[in-house]
Amino acid sequence: MNDKVLIFDTTLRDGEQAPGASMNQNEKLEIAFALERLGVDIIEAGFPVSSQGDFNSVKNVAKHIKDSIVCGLARCIKKDIDAAGDAIKVAKRGRIHVFLATSKIHLEHKLKKNKEEILQMAVDSVKYAKNKIDDVEFSPEDASRSEKDFLYRVIKAVIDAGATTVNIPDTVGYSVPIEYGQLIADIKNNVPNINKAIISVHCHDDLGLAVANSLSAVRNGARQVECTINGIGERAGNASMEEIVMALKTRSDIYGCSTNVNTQEISKASRLVSKLTGFVVPPNKAIVGANAFRHESGIHQDGMLKERSTYEIMRPEDVGFLGTGLVLGKHSGRHAFKVRLKNLGIDLNESQLDKAFERFKGLADKKKQVYDEDLIAIVEDQVKFVQNIWTLVDLKTTSGMKMTPKIELTLKAKGKTYKKISSGDGPVDACYRAIDAITKTKGELLDYSIQSVTRGKDAFGEVTVKVKIKDKSVIAHGTSTDIIVASAEAYLNAINKVLSQKESN
Ligand code: KIV
Ligand code: ZN
Repeated sequence: MNDKVLIFDTTLRDGEQAPGASMNQNEKLEIAFALERLGVDIIEAGFPVSSQGDFNSVKNVAKHIKDSIVCGLARCIKKDIDAAGDAIKVAKRGRIHVFLATSKIHLEHKLKKNKEEILQMAVDSVKYAKNKIDDVEFSPEDASRSEKDFLYRVIKAVIDAGATTVNIPDTVGYSVPIEYGQLIADIKNNVPNINKAIISVHCHDDLGLAVANSLSAVRNGARQVECTINGIGERAGNASMEEIVMALKTRSDIYGCSTNVNTQEISKASRLVSKLTGFVVPPNKAIVGANAFRHESGIHQDGMLKERSTYEIMRPEDVGFLGTGLVLGKHSGRHAFKVRLKNLGIDLNESQLDKAFERFKGLADKKKQVYDEDLIAIVEDQVKFVQNIWTLVDLKTTSGMKMTPKIELTLKAKGKTYKKISSGDGPVDACYRAIDAITKTKGELLDYSIQSVTRGKDAFGEVTVKVKIKDKSVIAHGTSTDIIVASAEAYLNAINKVLSQKESN
């Protein structure tokens, strides 16, 4: 048996509900394209009624995506379903996903409705959505904590009303694999019309069991899994897409199922989501962590050299994992640079390429070895979507344990150069004060992190900042072999992002 398991990606909806993960319209579209390249079957693009911005983003994704179904979420309320229907109207293939809680806790405390009222609302809403589109999914929210007999009744009724997918959420991540798998088996055995719909699962990771629960559900007949890239999502997150897909692929002997996902695109999509949300992927994260395919111990390395399968259950290239092979150096030309980027799946237009090449040359002058990861860091985010309204010309810092750190900073905008000397609690603080003063911006630094892109003392440092500027929070990045320069670049990138958005409005 080799059944297909449909991959329903909700990075843009549940993933975006992760505290601090909001993305703008361009960023969401960029992720949607990455999901389409991955070959996910369904992209849940947002919750259109929640804001005008979300409505526009879902509509934008629906307009551009051709290969995946584009889905909009709605509560069992007419105005929600209208908004979802309007947002996905332009899609080549669209879906409306309606949800309503069925657990006693939610009925009593949140919805203040009895079971019969809930049943009626669910049926009416599915019928209402069905008038707009054929493809309707229904989720009994908090299904895993709902009374089973009531759950069966609701599922049967919504299928009779036209739902083509029924999703069984473990909304609060309370279930455990043996129990959740049994729930799916029980639904199969107790809902008489269940064969008319696809059973979907949607698991949260509060107990770290989202992936295990989803796989247990697949073993018991679920044929759609809802998940997110890097497992981002509400609270502890959702089931991680890359883990589900690679578990089904690697252990097809157990699951007897496959997906339509082009696994070689996984690493790239993971990096993109991490960049745009500012959520750093831990090095030990399965499938996409920097250490996921690195072997440190001598015994393991020896085994690997003799026969890869001694310590490797998946090939890194199957998930598009980049090695740290030396690729380019100081003497490499623009053509070699362009070809290498193309091999990494990065296509730039001529002006983006010019900017990226200039950055590469700067880096190659400072750093002996330039790795694939360095190239990606140079290119991604820095040259896309953002006009470099303010650029860094120069900076000089003095700091020490017994002195107040000082910076002399030079920036450029529209051909004019500006200089400022500032001091602060540390060199980064001094730098950000100088940038604020020159650009006349009052940025509030909400988050700051630094990571090395590759190994070694001369490694590229990548600074990620979350900055609030005039009620808008943006995530931005800066890379350099000098961490103060990377910090300045990241902060300027945030300011440029806000200014570019203003100019393009
Ligand atoms: O976790 C949940 O129950 C949800 C539903 C909207 C499917 O995200
Ligand atoms: Zn959820």
